[in-house]
Amino acid sequence: MTNQELKEEDLKYIFHPCTQMKDHEKLPLISIKKAYGVYLEDFEGNRYIDAISSWWVNTLGHSNKFINEKIKAQLDNLEHILLAGFTHEPAVKLAKKLVELTPNGLDKVFFADNGSSGIEVALKMAFHYHANKGEKREYFVSLENSYHGETIGALSVSDMGLYKDVYNPILIKTLRAKSPKSQTKEEAKIALLDMENLLKEKHKNIVAIIVEPLIQCAGNMNMYHSDYLVGLRELCDLYDVFLIADEVAVGFGRTGKLFACEWAEITPDFMILSKGLTAGYLPLSVVMMKQKIYDAFYCEYDTKGVKSFLHSHSYTGNPLSCTAALAGIEFLENENVIENNKKTIRFIQEQLKRLESFPTVTNIRQQGMVCAFDIVGYKSEDRIGIKFYEYALKMGVILRPLGNVIYFMPPYIITQEEIEKVFDTIVKSLKNL
Ligand SMILES: Cc1ncc(COP(=O)(O)O)c(C=O)c1O
Repeated sequence: MTNQELKEEDLKYIFHPCTQMKDHEKLPLISIKKAYGVYLEDFEGNRYIDAISSWWVNTLGHSNKFINEKIKAQLDNLEHILLAGFTHEPAVKLAKKLVELTPNGLDKVFFADNGSSGIEVALKMAFHYHANKGEKREYFVSLENSYHGETIGALSVSDMGLYKDVYNPILIKTLRAKSPKSQTKEEAKIALLDMENLLKEKHKNIVAIIVEPLIQCAGNMNMYHSDYLVGLRELCDLYDVFLIADEVAVGFGRTGKLFACEWAEITPDFMILSKGLTAGYLPLSVVMMKQKIYDAFYCEYDTKGVKSFLHSHSYTGNPLSCTAALAGIEFLENENVIENNKKTIRFIQEQLKRLESFPTVTNIRQQGMVCAFDIVGYKSEDRIGIKFYEYALKMGVILRPLGNVIYFMPPYIITQEEIEKVFDTIVKSLKNL
């Protein structure tokens, strides 16, 4: 297929995710032929730095040789089997490794196959736990500005009107609490007070609180202080409500530690991991949980399925995905990636200073391997984010703004030279807007 044929056939057959397809009457698709390291290469040989890790999944670079080889070897042995009644080495090894790596007390692993399905599992399991204990609890609490995915349960606990409002009539019952609006300790305190007031009044009817630890990524990269997580854990203990940590986007080193919860030294009751779990290679998610949750479902076979957790996805624990995850973790460990990232994080911090003098730039923020800033002084109809995207693309950098928020979330293997190129592009884009 030629590049032109590919684009035409695409628009003939594919309904793209999160896209108003009419936009493609003006905005051409970019067909990618191959990817390696931080680069995506199109059919004309143009290279683009993947400065957003392909929707935040690709943590260790594209076509990572080590991971490629492990997946190829697995492919010749076992590509997929069901995980009910059967087991396989990649799933067992991965579960054991994840129990070792995640905060103390997360002792059991339930496999699913993408971030949203992991969220659904945690919500259902938390609700069902209380039912098994003879309690009827109805509400989930999430934070303002939150995003947890787009299946019905995940969307219900999200607070993104744009994705959600049209579906309101079919969503499940949720309550919303204030989110800390910046990285200050003061904001953490204000939001905790709001949560405490809500819990005081309604805790007996609350199943769980779900949060994105440290960064509300889709929520304009809103970053907050780890004190909030410390306080939240205390409140959940005090009011006997589950704490669900959605580390789908921030897990596996994104915040500067392996898991964001480590900054607060807390153990949530459930932790959901996906995206970086397989280093962006294959779809997989896991729900890590405490032993007492697993125990609440452990009983004699009940024919009506009242107590058992009868939830499954066809590709649960796929051996290739588990192998990719194990290889990614081995790479992280062998190459000392989290430790080496500290230098990269400091370098990004230095580069961010180049943006301080722009009157159109505000709210510059960073948490580990993510940084962001807001562009101000434009009207929404200016669609400044899209203009920024198009300009950066011409310069060979993929930056996909969230409205007026520009963020940088690269694969960890990015070099200082490549980071400098991204910031050169940002500076030029700001000058040319
Ligand atoms: C925090 C968070 N939770 C859940 C999800 C949903 O994951 P998926 O897109 O794999 O369904 C996302 C996706 O961006 C996310 O950022």
